[in-house]
Amino acid sequence: MASLSQIIFVSILLLIITTKCGAQLSPTFYDATCPRALKTIRTGIRNAVSGERRMAASLLRLHFHDCFVQGCDASILLDDSSSIDSEKNALPNFKSVRGFEVIDSVKSQLESVCPGVVSCADIVAVAARDASFAVGGPSWTVKLGRRDSTTASRSLAENLPSFTDGLDRLISTFATKGFSARDLVALSGAHTIGQAQCAFFRDRIYSNQSDIDAGFASTRRRECPASGGDSNLSPLDLVTPDSFDNNYFKNLVQKKGLLASDQVLFSGGSTDSIVDEYSKNRSKFKSDFAAAMIKMADISPLTGTAGQIRRVCNLVN
Ligand code: HEM
Ligand SMILES: *[C@@H]1O[C@H](CO)[C@@H](O)[C@H](O)[C@H]1NC(C)=O
Ligand SMILES: *[C@@H]1O[C@H](CO)[C@@H](O)[C@H](O)[C@H]1NC(C)=O
Repeated sequence: MASLSQIIFVSILLLIITTKCGAQLSPTFYDATCPRALKTIRTGIRNAVSGERRMAASLLRLHFHDCFVQGCDASILLDDSSSIDSEKNALPNFKSVRGFEVIDSVKSQLESVCPGVVSCADIVAVAARDASFAVGGPSWTVKLGRRDSTTASRSLAENLPSFTDGLDRLISTFATKGFSARDLVALSGAHTIGQAQCAFFRDRIYSNQSDIDAGFASTRRRECPASGGDSNLSPLDLVTPDSFDNNYFKNLVQKKGLLASDQVLFSGGSTDSIVDEYSKNRSKFKSDFAAAMIKMADISPLTGTAGQIRRVCNLVN
């Protein structure tokens, strides 16, 4: 039997621990304050994806581009204003990142269910998970309690990984965010869904390099002329563009990666063996992808009293 003093001691200890860790994310963060939060997001994302399969890809990418700039704080959602230099106008995002209206619509539903409670940053994180699951990808438990930034950084967004980056550069950029080369390869597997614009892969398909399958290059050239047609779309995974599988890696092994930054993961370098492994083992890819997404969603969240809960996602309160 615990004595009263022991109970008091343990209680004080617990109080100290919970206060210290009060600034941590937790999957149950909205259980008391907005029990319908997760279900509302899931329904919104499911509807959006059944309306347009590609939206799953766009939402996954939105989360990535949010988290790599100032952390997962919904900074990418802020519009240009006198105080905000919008990340939407940075080169990697401009006329490229999509899904804003889906997030805005889910947010407005949540505002009517439980006003001022659920952050835009959490919506983006949960949307990415629900989007993955909606197209056959893995699911995972999303930790919650991120708050929204009151700032954005267009200049940091300019430094998002580029399709022209070599393997060393990709590895080091991801390392600065706490990712291993294995995480980089797993996360790049998101390119098993979605589309890319001609301007991002033109150089590769007209280069006649030995790291591209000749037949693949000539097929791609039909939809991506040597000049003009910059925004013409081509699937990142030509075989199964709308389902989350490991075809992306099978493509790389066949030199059929669409972006130069895809093919560098399998071009004689240190990541070849990982690509090879994922090309043969879909379940291993999916579980590594889920683990890496959980890691991504943990990048520098604003918690406690930092930041704010925006009322609308594109504007600071
Ligand atoms: C490794 C470095 C990466 C580079 C250089 C890169 C680059 C790109 C580029 C250039 C596009 C085409 C954009 C357009 O044409 O408008 C794209 C699309 C996409 N990216 Fe990445 N990406 C990288 C990593 C990631 C990661 C880590 C994820 C998510 C976990 C991701 C998810 C996607 C998705 C799903 C699409 C298709 C989006 C859509 O159809 O709307 N990418 N990426
Ligand atoms: C690549 O090859 C194609 C067809 O073989 C040719 O028309 C084109 O000029 C070549 N491009 C370069 C950059 O060498
Ligand atoms: C695939 O990876 C899983 C782990 O996710 C492992 O248990 C299994 O043995 C692997 N399968 C093959 C064929 O290597």
